[in-house]
Amino acid sequence: MDCQPLLSIRVKAAGVLHIMTQNNTMKQIAVIGSGTMGNGIAHVFAQNGYQVALIDIQQYALDKALSVISKNLDRQINKELITKNDKNQTLDRISTHTDISVGVANADLVVEAATENLDLKISIFQQLDECTPPSCILASNTSSISITKIASATSRPTQVIGMHFMNPVPVMKLVEVIRGYVTSDQVTEQVMELTKKLHKVPVEVKDYPGFISNRILIPMINEAIISLHEGVAGVEEIDTVMKLGMAHPMGPLQLADFIGLDVCLAILKVLQDGFGQSKYTPCPLLVNMVTAGHLGVKSGQGFYSWKHQSKELVVAENFLK
Ligand SMILES: NC(=O)c1ccc[n+]([C@@H]2O[C@H](COP(=O)([O-])OP(=O)(O)OC[C@H]3O[C@@H](n4cnc5c(N)ncnc54)[C@H](O)[C@@H]3O)[C@@H](O)[C@H]2O)c1
Repeated sequence: MDCQPLLSIRVKAAGVLHIMTQNNTMKQIAVIGSGTMGNGIAHVFAQNGYQVALIDIQQYALDKALSVISKNLDRQINKELITKNDKNQTLDRISTHTDISVGVANADLVVEAATENLDLKISIFQQLDECTPPSCILASNTSSISITKIASATSRPTQVIGMHFMNPVPVMKLVEVIRGYVTSDQVTEQVMELTKKLHKVPVEVKDYPGFISNRILIPMINEAIISLHEGVAGVEEIDTVMKLGMAHPMGPLQLADFIGLDVCLAILKVLQDGFGQSKYTPCPLLVNMVTAGHLGVKSGQGFYSWKHQSKELVVAENFLK
């Protein structure tokens, strides 16, 4: 993409943004990808007073994102957490774009939340490097891809960082802040401070496969699937042990259905490749389920059936005794 027309804005913006970042008063946020995570990230920034440019390659994804944000704001109104006026102001702060170069032109911070694919993320970050003001911080919401690898595709690797929000973003408190190998102290501090301004809790971790969250969570889910595969216990029994015995709010198999079994498998492969240890080998049952398209909530079937409206959990037919 040709970003030359933006050059004067970039040069002009550089001085201004330098002062802005010194004072840690980032105002303009661009969010790339308006899917599950992108709409939640846009919602949270806009609700906390930031101007948000939400960018996707598909107009229908942007339209859907605005409708999801509107519904989620309604839910907050119903819980008396915000007023109707807060909702309107939040929506007014969000603009949508299908042209990335327009959306990011004045950004102080970009949070990339596009599809989890290394080549795609590398190409997006190369484009961001070209099209954003030089002082702009580039963050990725990736669940598993190396921040150092993404950073090395840009000319500003010290300004690239991971901001790993949790799903659903408006509800979950944690943001895992991942320092790439050369991410600067200043950029890390700015992102930690910014996260607190979103009323979230940032936790700083280093850039190794799975970071902390998925390095611990995904092997636990894999172990639950191995236990099921070996017939040690059934779906409900495994989840009940972890819920009532370990005070987890939901069992590992239900959580796997929410995350998506394809996503769980992809993260296990990152751990396996990154550490080269057999303990990360995906359970053959998980591989089979993904191959068969049983991906959890998003496909209607995983360890549980998600095709009905009932609030009760219904174990999927394949796992009924
Ligand atoms: N879903 C989760 O629970 C979760 C949790 C934490 C982190 N993540 C990470 O967040 C990121 C997004 O995940 P998601 O679940 O929101 O995915 P999603 O599939 O719901 O949304 C991805 C969006 O990216 C858009 N997109 C693809 N290529 C693009 C491009 N070149 N420019 C702009 N937009 C583009 C797609 O059109 C789609 O709307 C991934 O890196 C994922 O690993 C996901």
